[in-house]
Amino acid sequence: MDNFIANNPTSLHFGKGVIETIGKTVKPFGSKVLLVYGKGSVKKSGLYDRIIAQLNEAGATIFEFDGIQPNPLVGDVDKAATIGRENKVDYILAVGGGSVIDSAKIISITIPVEHTAWDFYEYKAKPLTAVPLVAVLTLAATGTEMNPFAVLQNPVTGRKDGYGSPLCFPVHSFLDPEVTYTVPADYTAYGIADLIAHCFENYFGKGDCSLSDRFITAIIADAMEWGPKLMNNLHGYDERAAIMYDATMALNLMTSHGKSGGDWGVHGMGHILSLLHGVAHGASLSILFPAWMKLLNERAGKQIAKLGTDLFGNPDVDATIAKFEEFFTQIGSPVHLSQVGIGEDKFEEIIRLMIRNKAEGSNYKLSEADYRKIMEFAK
Ligand code: NZQ
Ligand code: ZN
Repeated sequence: MDNFIANNPTSLHFGKGVIETIGKTVKPFGSKVLLVYGKGSVKKSGLYDRIIAQLNEAGATIFEFDGIQPNPLVGDVDKAATIGRENKVDYILAVGGGSVIDSAKIISITIPVEHTAWDFYEYKAKPLTAVPLVAVLTLAATGTEMNPFAVLQNPVTGRKDGYGSPLCFPVHSFLDPEVTYTVPADYTAYGIADLIAHCFENYFGKGDCSLSDRFITAIIADAMEWGPKLMNNLHGYDERAAIMYDATMALNLMTSHGKSGGDWGVHGMGHILSLLHGVAHGASLSILFPAWMKLLNERAGKQIAKLGTDLFGNPDVDATIAKFEEFFTQIGSPVHLSQVGIGEDKFEEIIRLMIRNKAEGSNYKLSEADYRKIMEFAK
């Protein structure tokens, strides 16, 4: 087992009605808030009005930045940071899914500086301080609500990259499963695929820690049990709650203790599909993970067999991969590139960008020949 420091400073407020306690939680941060949200789901669901009521109760002066898109853009982060800086906001309240919360994390470290947000991603600058961030999660998937990571897209440099800093943990995150009732079936399924993919990335990472691996298999087993139930009952509280908790635990660092980081090659490749073809994040992963496992049969066969034994009582690698494909199909997340409109004529451009952006993974490094085989398996 590798050495590790365990630290997670985020206070998680989980359960029915937690939204109604936001006002008293944010009050100590000050009076000026930058409210960040996406393209309108929060207004449609009525959550926006409930949040405004909480902020009014706390006596807040509200500055807003809306319109954060899925696969969020660094340009929006810079614009929002300018609003926050000019108005000297005391804290940020992010209301949305991973795209909104990730954007808010980088806004929180960009407000105190004069350079652009992308300078952090190119390691030209290091954050020294952050405006406190409070998050209200509306979609269970990424784990961003309790981790220090943020993924942004930069159309100018042609990259979608992750960035992490201990300053980027939200101070508080509010998770009311009822708020996720309005997430449509497709994004609900992509969220389940994403959380399972986070388990895979850590499982196939470097190093050995049996307890972390047991946490991982427990989370996958829980998601595979509750996922189909949720897809059959999108307004089920217990179903929404189980998947929401699974998603938080799948990427809040708990599953990587004692290991020296996950692999993240499949995420790297998935980001290329999002960048070039706007594929939803979780959908890119349900397509690429089974294909990656087929390729990795020779190199990681033992690990896949162990996963198969622990989850399905069968060490057969092909059968294990088939089970995952069946599961993703059952919940409605794609397993073929053709299902998201990506034909073979697009493969060369995708592979070129995978090479350029080094979507290679840190444990099982991928080569150009590997990308070709993965695309072939995934077509
Ligand atoms: O923009 P609005 O109108 O809010 O609509 C969103 C968006 O269209 C909608 N939505 C969210 N909550 C809803 C809802 N619709 C109805 N009811 C609700 N309650 O769902 C759509 C997708 O939202 P998005 O935030 O993009 O989804 P997700 O949470 O899956 O986030 C994906 C982003 O997170 C990154 C991904 O790469 C992607 O950019 N990731 C972040 C990670 C992290 N910070 O640790 C790790 C992940 O691996 C991932 O890379
Ligand atoms: Zn992910």
